[in-house]
Amino acid sequence: MTPGPVDGTVRVGASAGSYEVRVGSGCLASLPDLLQSAVGAHRYALISDDDVAALHGDAVIARCRDAGLDAELFSFPAGERSKTRKSWSILTDRMLAGGFGRDSCVVALGGGVTGDLSGFVAATYLRGVPLVQLPTSYLAMIDASVGGKTGVDVAAGKNLVGAFHAPRFVLADTDLLTTLPTSERVQGLVEAFKHGATMDSSYFDWLSEHAARLIAVEGDVATEAVLRSVRLKAAVVTEDEREAGPREVLNFGHTLGHALEAASDFQVGHGTAVAAGMVLEAELGERLGVTRAGTRERIALGLAALGVGLDVVAEIDIDVALGFLGTDKKSRRGRPRFVLLEELGRVHREGGWSREAPETMVSEVMAEVAGSV
Ligand SMILES: NC(=O)c1ccc[n+]([C@@H]2O[C@H](COP(=O)([O-])OP(=O)(O)OC[C@H]3O[C@@H](n4cnc5c(N)ncnc54)[C@H](O)[C@@H]3O)[C@@H](O)[C@H]2O)c1
Ligand SMILES: [Zn+2]
Repeated sequence: MTPGPVDGTVRVGASAGSYEVRVGSGCLASLPDLLQSAVGAHRYALISDDDVAALHGDAVIARCRDAGLDAELFSFPAGERSKTRKSWSILTDRMLAGGFGRDSCVVALGGGVTGDLSGFVAATYLRGVPLVQLPTSYLAMIDASVGGKTGVDVAAGKNLVGAFHAPRFVLADTDLLTTLPTSERVQGLVEAFKHGATMDSSYFDWLSEHAARLIAVEGDVATEAVLRSVRLKAAVVTEDEREAGPREVLNFGHTLGHALEAASDFQVGHGTAVAAGMVLEAELGERLGVTRAGTRERIALGLAALGVGLDVVAEIDIDVALGFLGTDKKSRRGRPRFVLLEELGRVHREGGWSREAPETMVSEVMAEVAGSV
């Protein structure tokens, strides 16, 4: 007997109205119907980076036009360097020149960069038009397309200018992952391991066991991972849309992860840095007596199955990384804060979702992990 389909739908709560995230192999076929029933716009501006546009843009446009929808493709150069106010102004100017009115809808087809940039276009265009997210990377499916955060990077830092703008719906067709470069698959899957480490230890174990198949996008595993991650993230953002409380758990591994990323001058991928950040923060929690002994080891083993090691900690200058800690957006009064685990699958909560740690201890943890590589 063949196993049944694992595709499914998750509902996410948002102040502007809840929305559905549909996940599955081939689910993009339902795009025209969903656009008609959930949006009903007069025109659709499909925004995509030029790599994704070349691979999948024409097919999505053709699907829309075959169903009688007015859809036009707008592309921008691929990469984080395009997530800027300049790209935002070029895209909004092109839409204005094209006569897109208030009854238009922005459809983001791409990774997290496309989702964040297009989302900010949708949030601001004529004071806001509907947005639909069609994520194409693991990172965007698992993380960026859910939760309504949009924005751009500025000289002072990443994601510092933006808006909350929830999508009308999200359609994550896992077939699109087969064209995603392998290194990008690995980087994005790290966030799924973070969901498991903070909220569901059996999911963490399942991910570790299926890491090779997830990287190969084999069978139903990609759909199962995206669904499980979206369910976990949806529960958190539904409870805490504006990041005042529980949403903070999603920052596990990110305080030290961001410091490592910055210390490497962004040469190291976000996933690689966050993976090391999770191991470091688990060790920090163990030393502070809040995290169950052995948690660091379990996290490191799971991430090793994904093929992500800790070399980055040995390669960066620890003092430079420590210097970036106080500038982290989660810091209060210049003091960095850490989301710590109680055990695998559960975040420690005592007087808040994050806490400070002595800088000497953070430094010792980094030195010890660097020495263990
Ligand atoms: N809004 C949020 O809540 C949130 C959460 C996490 C991350 N983010 C943001 O997401 C961004 C990172 O996302 P990302 O890793 O997807 O980056 P990305 O959008 O740059 O995609 C990574 C690379 O993969 C390519 N790509 C994407 N899908 C592809 C496909 N199916 N086939 C072939 N190539 C494909 C892209 O062209 C790009 O070169 C960052 O800017 C980050 O700040 C946002
Ligand atoms: Zn992250």
